[in-house]
Amino acid sequence: MRKKSKFHLLGIIGYPLRQSMSPILHNYWMNKNSLNGYYVPLELNNLKNINKAIKAMNFTGLNVTIPYKKSIIKYLDKIDEDAEKLEAVNTIVNKKGKLIGYNTDTIGFQKGLKNLKKWNKNLPVLVIGAGGAAEAIIYSLCKIKIKKIYLMNRTIGKAKKIGLKYKNIKIIRWLERDFVDDFSMIINTTSLGMIGYPKLPISLKETNKDTIVYDIVYNPLKTPFIKEAEKNNMDTIKGLEMFLEQAKESFGLWFNKHPKIDTQILKLIKNKIEKQ
Ligand code: ATR
Repeated sequence: MRKKSKFHLLGIIGYPLRQSMSPILHNYWMNKNSLNGYYVPLELNNLKNINKAIKAMNFTGLNVTIPYKKSIIKYLDKIDEDAEKLEAVNTIVNKKGKLIGYNTDTIGFQKGLKNLKKWNKNLPVLVIGAGGAAEAIIYSLCKIKIKKIYLMNRTIGKAKKIGLKYKNIKIIRWLERDFVDDFSMIINTTSLGMIGYPKLPISLKETNKDTIVYDIVYNPLKTPFIKEAEKNNMDTIKGLEMFLEQAKESFGLWFNKHPKIDTQILKLIKNKIEKQ
């Protein structure tokens, strides 16, 4: 008799999750890779007992998103080196009953840059936001040797905390505009612009047209910030790129397989986002 393949339970922890495309994407990839399993959204309002719960339900792995990328750490058994440095986890692997935390946002961000035609890395980069995703991006920017990073966040204390950990970061006040530098890239890492949130209150009117605008929000596909950049003929990177790339890495950590971003799943995701 043929042995039944293992059933894999996977999921995403966050709040809110109504905007997340991870379930549709990972369920599609499991199916395409002939894996038996199901990926579920876990919209939680606290993380109490999460370590025990994941083990009791024998999850193979999980993703972690807003607002738990940092607060999940104390509930895990081990943290990978990069995630530990960043103090942010977006992927959990259940390795023989031990919950290990990883961060695939760093690789997701870097792969999102792959289609850029030109990028003057000698000019500074402006990062907006200081949450878990922001730090993963700053970590990547330092790795690719960006010389100067400006960082602004509504809660300045969070930006200052990141500023202490990385060289070449200059903290500026929320929405401050009186700095002199031109930026090679402006990156929105906040939730602003996402469905259900106000738009990012930053105008690109006086921004150099060679500046690349990267918005990690993928829901809607084009945030008001991206739309303004396109209107100004600026190069843009939309959040869907980074989302798909980080997801590919997470899938690889769980199954050691490299899923494909094919036209069918792209269409499914884009349709779902547009209907929201
Ligand atoms: P993630 O781990 O995905 O980065 P997070 O840690 O909750 O999620 O961070 C969300 C980011 O969006 C933070 O920079 C947050 O700013 P604060 O640190 O001041 O909370 C930012 N953000 C969310 N809502 C915002 C709003 N209404 N105005 C300005 N910034 C906002």
